[in-house]
Amino acid sequence: MTHADPTPLASRRSGPLKGTLRVPGDKSISHRALMLGALATGKTRIRGLLESEDVINTAHAVTALGAPARKTGDTWEVLGRGTGGLTQPDKPLDFGNSGTGTRLMMGVIAPHDITVTMIGDASLSKRPMGRVLNPLKQMGLEVEGDRDRLPLTLRGTSELVPMVYELPVPSAQIKSAILLAGLGAAGETTVVEPEATRDHTERMLRHFGADVRTVSEGGATRITVRGGAELEGRDVTVPGDPSSAAFLIAAALIVPGSDITIEGLLVNPTRTGFYTTLQEMGGDVTFLNEREEGGEPIADIRARFSALSGVSVPADRAPSMIDEYPMLAVVAGFAKGATRMDGLAELKVKESDRLAATAAGLEANGVRTEVSGDTLIVHGTGSVPGGGLVETHLDHRIAMSFLAMGLASTSPVTVDDTAMIATSFPEFRHLMEQIGAQFGEGGGA
Ligand code: S3P
Repeated sequence: MTHADPTPLASRRSGPLKGTLRVPGDKSISHRALMLGALATGKTRIRGLLESEDVINTAHAVTALGAPARKTGDTWEVLGRGTGGLTQPDKPLDFGNSGTGTRLMMGVIAPHDITVTMIGDASLSKRPMGRVLNPLKQMGLEVEGDRDRLPLTLRGTSELVPMVYELPVPSAQIKSAILLAGLGAAGETTVVEPEATRDHTERMLRHFGADVRTVSEGGATRITVRGGAELEGRDVTVPGDPSSAAFLIAAALIVPGSDITIEGLLVNPTRTGFYTTLQEMGGDVTFLNEREEGGEPIADIRARFSALSGVSVPADRAPSMIDEYPMLAVVAGFAKGATRMDGLAELKVKESDRLAATAAGLEANGVRTEVSGDTLIVHGTGSVPGGGLVETHLDHRIAMSFLAMGLASTSPVTVDDTAMIATSFPEFRHLMEQIGAQFGEGGGA
């Protein structure tokens, strides 16, 4: 999917943000529900699927692979083909902006005797795919032309060989691709992760009946999946996305007088590093009604305006808040004192180089930053001048983070494009306005 004309937007100082609301379903879980539904036999029903461009592209992809995914009433249904049962698509699969859709689908395709061409937008076509293709090639996947960027043509095989693979970088996408491929390999496939990353694939594989074992070894985790087991179609309920809620919660902390509650959020500990950090900064963020639904921990989160202080965020927290650093860096601008964020190497290979884009956006709005290697330091003074134009580089999270900034900065903040917000959180503007956020078109806020 391509976005033709950029759509700039400005946000401006807003009154207290108030309300109780829900955000759309979690993106990571939505992709996985569609893919496991396709690999299971029988029908999978998904409630609360995130209907964003990234996830819709995955729904189209599984449909093109012979496992139709469609919406009936308020539920999505996938008619699974069983592992090994997917069929050759008759045209390239377009993943738009989605690294997760692309990389996980490489693992889904690997154990099938099919040839698939994968394409994506300008941002996705710049992102490294070798990190997933290299281990999958060791298992038997063939890649035409030995490329590691989209467009790519892959040839899977029903003779996939199992393997033990230690992750060289903390990435749930790499882990998940290998585990999904391992489902179709003859024997046991093991991924060793030195640092814990989001574990939705493991949880959902178990929910669908796969044999998955997780063993802790010192600080590392060994995850083993047994190939050849039949998955059965299941009901899945997708909880609210904590990475989308992050923008509203951050806005509530920095806009004076705010008090909001977001209900039904995923609070899996592999995803909550951002909330922990906000609490350490002095943020009034509380988890209410903690419960479990569909194998995942859920809670309502209440956030109130708070006086914040700079903190040091340890590198080992990065996997549990990797998508939230742009938002955290903006919040740090409103805190008093320096906030130091270490271990940000993975931030450079997201939808944009988020380390560079975040620092540039802060500087453009009068916040002093330092970038050194994989470390970002934000020098907060308690208030942000604003007034800048932020380059989003086709990155939804850069756009949303800086629009949140403008709600509390002295002058409006303009982002050069908002079209990409639809890839993960199409309701962003509507929900923000519902709690009292003020936006204006094209920089003229
Ligand atoms: C995701 C994993 C993360 C994250 C992405 C979603 C997933 O990427 O940034 O938005 O659903 O597995 P990496 O695994 O590459 O860190």
